[in-house]
Amino acid sequence: MRHTVLTGDRPTGPLHLGHYFGTLANRVKLQHDHTMYVLVADYQVITDRDLPGEIQRNITGLLLDYLAIGLDPAKVTIFQHSAIPELNQLLLPFLSLVSMAELQRNPTVKDEIAHSSQKAVSGLMFTYPVHQAADILFCKGTLVPVGKDQGPHVEVTRLVARRFNERYAPVFPVPELLLGEAPVLRGLDGGKMSKSRGNAIPLSATADETAALIRKARTDSTRLITFDEVERPEVAGLLTMAGLCLGRSPVEIADEIGYGGAAQLKKTVTEAVNEFLAPIRRRRAGISETEAREVLRQGNAHAREQAILTLDEVRAAMGF
Ligand code: TRP
Repeated sequence: MRHTVLTGDRPTGPLHLGHYFGTLANRVKLQHDHTMYVLVADYQVITDRDLPGEIQRNITGLLLDYLAIGLDPAKVTIFQHSAIPELNQLLLPFLSLVSMAELQRNPTVKDEIAHSSQKAVSGLMFTYPVHQAADILFCKGTLVPVGKDQGPHVEVTRLVARRFNERYAPVFPVPELLLGEAPVLRGLDGGKMSKSRGNAIPLSATADETAALIRKARTDSTRLITFDEVERPEVAGLLTMAGLCLGRSPVEIADEIGYGGAAQLKKTVTEAVNEFLAPIRRRRAGISETEAREVLRQGNAHAREQAILTLDEVRAAMGF
């Protein structure tokens, strides 16, 4: 079956290895056999902060990350919220399909509120999952490859699609969630790899930067390296990272290191990550910022045509 795949990222900073194994690898695979849209979710940046920050710089960085990992602009439509008014307009009818109670019990939203440094929680914080339904449904997306935290949002999208179809006319497919198969990647401190925790290896890091980051990674003082997720999460995290980069089992890598201790472990991880990132770095070096921006301009034009068609269909189904 040919899917319409929709996924995206907030342009709040560079993508890292956790993103790669969690969802980006899936995208690179899926682009060959499916219709694919990748969203630079710029309007979503202001859900958990007051200002968009260095939004233009972050958008350019995200575009370079996408192209560097091998997303092919001839196959994938890369676009941004702020360039597609008709997508944003879908939010209004979609909001009429969900209750306040449903908005308030979204576990990912609750978690983001708990971790937000904002003084007040904005209305957008509660409604952005419905905006995300507009992201997915404007192109009639059928498959959404994302991390586990995005599951509740895909549930909202499924609810919106079903309710619209029941209340008005069968306009939307009910999309499926596709989770990455890789285990959640731990960052350099043993916690979940995340840009906000400062424990990530960005895909754009140079070989030297990568080595410096791994040198500072937390480990323990037991010389024999073993893969133990519970007792030794930091060491296990590094072994998992090396394993994913090398396409090998972390247990096997631990056995090879044996009594080499943290020093040998870090050397192995650094080599594995740098080897893995080498082709990504090569591709990035071959793309200019101007070219990256042009990819977005063309993607925006294409996505907008699609959004206009869907909004027309929605209005007609509703009788406006
Ligand atoms: N919320 C996603 C994130 O924070 C980004 C996103 C916005 C998205 N719209 C989407 C993901 C639609 C999948 C589908 O990473």
